[in-house]
Order: sequence, then C-alpha cells, then structure tokens
Amino acid sequence: MTPPVTSGRLADKRVVVTGGARGIGGEIASRFAAEGAAVSILDRLVDLGTERAAAIGGTFHEVDLLDPAATAATTTAAVEAMGGVDVLVNSAGILRFTSLLDLTVQDWNETFSINTRAMLTTMQVCVRAMIAAGHGGKIINLASMAAKKGGAGEGAYPPSKAAVVALTRMAALEWGCHGITANSLCPGYILTEMGAATRTQADIDTWSSYSPLGRLGESSDVAAVALFLASPDADYLTGQAINVTGGMVMH
Ligand SMILES: NC(=O)c1ccc[n+]([C@@H]2O[C@H](COP(=O)([O-])OP(=O)(O)OC[C@H]3O[C@@H](n4cnc5c(N)ncnc54)[C@H](O)[C@@H]3O)[C@@H](O)[C@H]2O)c1
Repeated sequence: MTPPVTSGRLADKRVVVTGGARGIGGEIASRFAAEGAAVSILDRLVDLGTERAAAIGGTFHEVDLLDPAATAATTTAAVEAMGGVDVLVNSAGILRFTSLLDLTVQDWNETFSINTRAMLTTMQVCVRAMIAAGHGGKIINLASMAAKKGGAGEGAYPPSKAAVVALTRMAALEWGCHGITANSLCPGYILTEMGAATRTQADIDTWSSYSPLGRLGESSDVAAVALFLASPDADYLTGQAINVTGGMVMH
C-alpha cells in the first residue's frame, strides 16, 4: 500500500491511544505520530506495544483495562508524562463469539468492562486534564457497525458497542461547553487479529460482497478517518457515530 501523504496536521498534539499495540489502534498510533503527534500507547501486549512505541518515537504503558484502578492510574501517568493530553483514542476492545443462549455473566461483564467501562475511565482522566488546560480536546471511541445492526453469535460485543455510541454522545453533550468533541467510529469488517482465528477465505469473499466497493477494510482506512476527527478540520463535528464500512451500513 502507498504510504500516506503526511502534513504535520497533529504537530504539538499529545495523544493517548488505548489498544495501540496492534490492529486499528496500532495504525492510528503510527499515523498520528507520522503527523507530528506525541503518542502514548496503553495496552496489555508488552512486546508489541514497546516495539511500536519505539518505532514511532512514542511511549508504552502496560495496563489491563479490566482493572479500573490500574486503568485510571496508567492513564494519569501517561498524561502527566506528556505534560497534558489533546486527543484520546479508545481503540482497545475484545470480541468473544457465543450465542445469546450460551452467553455467561462473566463474558458479559468482561466484554463491557474492556469495551465500554474502560472508555469511561480513560475519558474521565483525560477530560479532567483537558478542562484544566482550558484549550479543548478531542475524543475518538471505537464502536462498530455491530452497534447499529447487531451481530448473530457475537455475544456481548454488539450491546457493548451500542453502549459506546451512547456513552460518546453523552461525552459530546456534557463536555462540548469545554471545547471538547467526542465521536465514535463504527468500522465494518477490518482485517486485523480480531476474529482472525475463525475467519476463512470464504468468509472474506462473502463479507466483501456486502460492500459496494467489493472489499473488506484495512486498519489504514479507519486511521485516516480518525486522523480527520483529530484534526482541526473536524472542530465542528461532535456526537456522531461514523460508519467506516465500505458502504455496508448507511445509517
Ligand atoms: N477489526 C474489526 O473488524 C473491527 C470492526 C469494528 C470495530 N472494531 C473495533 O476496533 C477496535 C480495535 O480492534 P482491532 O481490530 O484493532 O482488534 P485487535 O484485537 O487487533 O486490537 C485490540 C487491541 O486492544 C488491546 N486490548 C484488548 N483487551 C485489553 C485489555 N484488557 N487491556 C489492555 N489492552 C487490551 C489488545 O491487546 C490489542 O492491542 C476494537 O474496539 C474493536 O471492537 C474492530
């Protein structure tokens, strides 16, 4: 793939990216750093996170987002190390395949804890810092097209992502008066490690046919939209749940 044209659009911006060790969060961390941002990666994958942080001139902070206290402490440490935060990207997430009839309370709680509650914790830390600094900020939360259309066999994932959309709208409503925007991204099928263990070539061919563009998405497709949301071009855009689905979902 041709490397993106960079323009220094995020020069002087300090960014926290959860789930930035790999996948969509990893691509966002790399793309934002290439645009001039200082990037802190929060993840539980130490080797991949450390490697990516070193490659992009950022920092890595190990955390298990299942743990609320550790999440708050690690986010605080990352923000303090950068001297503040301008952009928060919540990309960490998990998908556990199970039918509703077999969905356990533990799976429900852990999925909501990582996919949704952890976002609340990182937002609380970062928004307090943004308000104290007094020059606004931007929040980008990874939801999913599953928030809008569900997903048979995807357990607690679709409801946790619908909650992300609602939580992000609340953030837009409550913090807009501080110049803080909050939007969620709703990707379709993106070729990452998520779901890779069970994904077959036949699945890829079938899912590709759902898009008018005839292909699945890449992490770079999502990172490009995240970059727009983090840039001044999106200053008047808040409370939205933006599809990045190659046209699979249009509402
Ligand atoms: N890949 C897709 O098709 C797709 C589609 C729609 C939405 N999304 C969403 O995009 C986001 C990124 O997904 P991805 O495809 O890059 O997945 P991925 O599995 O490649 O990356 C997820 C990252 O989150 C981190 N993470 C997970 N649980 C964690 C925990 N408890 N503590 C700390 N870090 C944790 C992982 O270590 C990993 O680095 C997720 O929120 C996902 O739900 C993905």
